[in-house]
Amino acid sequence: MKKNYYAENLNSQKLYQVYETSLLRIRQYLEAEIEFVRTRLSGRERVLELGAGYGRIVRELAPFCASIVGVDISEENVKLGKRYLKNFPNADMVTMDVHDMSFDCQFDVVLCLQNGLSAMKADDKVVRTIIGLLAPGGAAYFSSYSAKFWDFRLKWFEEQASKGLLGAIDPEKTKDGVIVCADGFKAATHTPDDFERIGAASGFPYQVTEVDDSSVFLIIHKTS
Ligand SMILES: C[S@@+](CC[C@H](N)C(=O)[O-])C[C@H]1O[C@@H](n2cnc3c(N)ncnc32)[C@H](O)[C@@H]1O
Repeated sequence: MKKNYYAENLNSQKLYQVYETSLLRIRQYLEAEIEFVRTRLSGRERVLELGAGYGRIVRELAPFCASIVGVDISEENVKLGKRYLKNFPNADMVTMDVHDMSFDCQFDVVLCLQNGLSAMKADDKVVRTIIGLLAPGGAAYFSSYSAKFWDFRLKWFEEQASKGLLGAIDPEKTKDGVIVCADGFKAATHTPDDFERIGAASGFPYQVTEVDDSSVFLIIHKTS
């Protein structure tokens, strides 16, 4: 499996610390993303989350769906995730690279949240695989950051750098939706236009919508 920054540096307890933020606006953003999906679940769905980390979102959504599986490239995340989810019998974690996924079942909902496409450097081929994993009538949810949220996002990454979770932020290169750190970490953004392009290329009905002035969602509905 190909290694990347998350698999090698920012996993398990360190990733957990990323989300243990003292910034209230960031906590609101994280909750709003989950709430957006939660209110669209009926309780009957088989859900797959890609780039699921240690299962933060999986645990929040498990009571609202039939089953949920989180996929992550980092074995350390999956190990922590299995402990984190031990009281949620309908939830599980598996180690897998989104660039090389295989499942012997389909899903009603596939999630790729918290700027997941950028974090996983996922291209159009991955998006096509995701749509292939959906059962007819299913939906894929992708989210990235709203441009309106840049200052808060930056503060959150500064907090992560100050906790030693990331290298120092490079102030010259950090701009236009891209955060660059001295240790090689780089986080980009999918803009609403990027999401429009991905949605149109899917050939299925889709929506691009802003949530909480903090994130932008693309939802693709696999109608048949
Ligand atoms: C920004 S974190 C988000 C974690 C989780 N979705 C959350 O919001 O709590 C991105 C995650 O994607 C995972 N990841 C990165 N590249 C991946 C890949 N190629 N395949 C699967 N997971 C990947 C990382 O290990 C990391 O856990």
